[in-house]
Amino acid sequence: MERGGWKTNTGFLLAAIGSAVGLGNIWRFSYMCYKNGGGAFLIPYLIALLACGIPLMILEFAIGHKFRASAPKSMHAVNSEWEWLGWWPVLFVMFGIELYYCVVIAWFGLYAVFSLKSMLPGGVLPWTQGGGPEDFFFNSFLGLTDGPFTIGAMSLPIIGMTVFVWLLLWAICVHRVEGGVERACKIFMPLLFLLTAVLVVWGLTLDGAGEGIKQYLQPDWTKLGDVTIWRDAFGQIFFSLSIGFGIMIAYASYLPKQTNLVRSAFITCLCNCGFSVFAGFAVFSVLGFMALQQGVDVGDVAKAGPGLCFVTYPQAIALLPAFKGLFGFLFFFSVFIAGITSAMSIIEAFASAAIDKFDWNRTKVVTATCILGLAGSLIFTTGAGLFWLDIIDHFLNSYGLMVVGLLEAVMIGWYYRIDHLHFHLTDANQGAYPVSWDIWWEWSVKFVAPVALGSIVAWSIMDDLKTPYEGYPTQALVLLGLGWVIGTFLLSGIFSMYSKHTQQPDVEGL
Ligand code: TRP
Repeated sequence: MERGGWKTNTGFLLAAIGSAVGLGNIWRFSYMCYKNGGGAFLIPYLIALLACGIPLMILEFAIGHKFRASAPKSMHAVNSEWEWLGWWPVLFVMFGIELYYCVVIAWFGLYAVFSLKSMLPGGVLPWTQGGGPEDFFFNSFLGLTDGPFTIGAMSLPIIGMTVFVWLLLWAICVHRVEGGVERACKIFMPLLFLLTAVLVVWGLTLDGAGEGIKQYLQPDWTKLGDVTIWRDAFGQIFFSLSIGFGIMIAYASYLPKQTNLVRSAFITCLCNCGFSVFAGFAVFSVLGFMALQQGVDVGDVAKAGPGLCFVTYPQAIALLPAFKGLFGFLFFFSVFIAGITSAMSIIEAFASAAIDKFDWNRTKVVTATCILGLAGSLIFTTGAGLFWLDIIDHFLNSYGLMVVGLLEAVMIGWYYRIDHLHFHLTDANQGAYPVSWDIWWEWSVKFVAPVALGSIVAWSIMDDLKTPYEGYPTQALVLLGLGWVIGTFLLSGIFSMYSKHTQQPDVEGL
């Protein structure tokens, strides 16, 4: 009881959906869909969801709930030699992905502030001045240098907003889940859905929106034969659902003994994917509008990542006939919120891991983590930040996350009796389950997920060996990319060894 726990099941669901719905849903999904044959992409996406996403979500919920502990302690309970498999993801997400994720959230926060300021009398959107949105973002705003080894200057406004983001995350996570994450998500998530709905409706009323939506969803069935579409679908499902991060294990550990985990996993996954498709309407209606204004093709303006959110979208906003500032604010602020609810989830996962294993005090753990995190984020506020972000993101996503998912599935599917977990799921739900679904679940965990994830990892290795990622210098890729993957891996070994020397309270329910 002293660990804390969710007050309501809705609170838990909002937190899990809050973790899943993040920048990936907005700046990655719509482009993936467009690039991979529009509506046709939804087929491999749905298959990846059913074959890999939902089963692994159920798996993570089940382990966290059965052992009532976050990832390292749960993995330790599965097999004491594998505790590092619990530490590794929370470490590389906390001290890898999270560090730049928070800086990107800060960019969104600043763009939201710029939009607000432009509504003041005499105010203008800063990217409409001088060299336009692209020049503004890369040169004036980021001060981008010419390569990853030219660090350049730190940007003061970005540092300021990054400090604010970390302070906000700290203020939420020092409280136990029910008073911190749950309370924040109960405010942020409904607000996010409302803001997105306003953006979608507003977007659809713009001239040219129809053409944008047509390009977004019109199926090109021939693309289904292309293998990259399958890799993209599995990769997208994985990152977007926050599985393999150790987050869902921690979140499920705070649930009461009696709970329907399978239903919660379905709700979380379907809401996340539904949100992606929905947000895509806001993105593509605006792209359609812009293409019409500029007399170009939607394909010429569709991009992913920072290019979409910080160049194309601002440019489209500048073309709006009225209420530019308000539209900009709604967009940037909603992505900001989506990011915050994801960023808080990993701090919670890491902090609860340390608290569960070492019996440390929450306030101290969260404060130390946020200070270290902020220090780590600073490197991404420099002129080389975007390059570092790009390299580390590629390596941690293609190798870290996928390998963790693969090992988790193999480990539980083959070395731990999965029927134990099946009993547990049934028990937790007062013994009530249809008998047929467990075959699908077991097969996915034992065969489909390992084969799919294994092939994706092998393929990424081949790709990376053939051509250096995005043409970056090899030293940068090895030092930053591999360095981060291997460094956090070693650190997870150290943490597991350290925890062997500290007292292990017995795990209940084994
Ligand atoms: N699922 C999130 C997305 O789609 C990513 C994410 C979840 C994340 N939790 C995180 C990223 C914690 C960094 C840290 O964007």
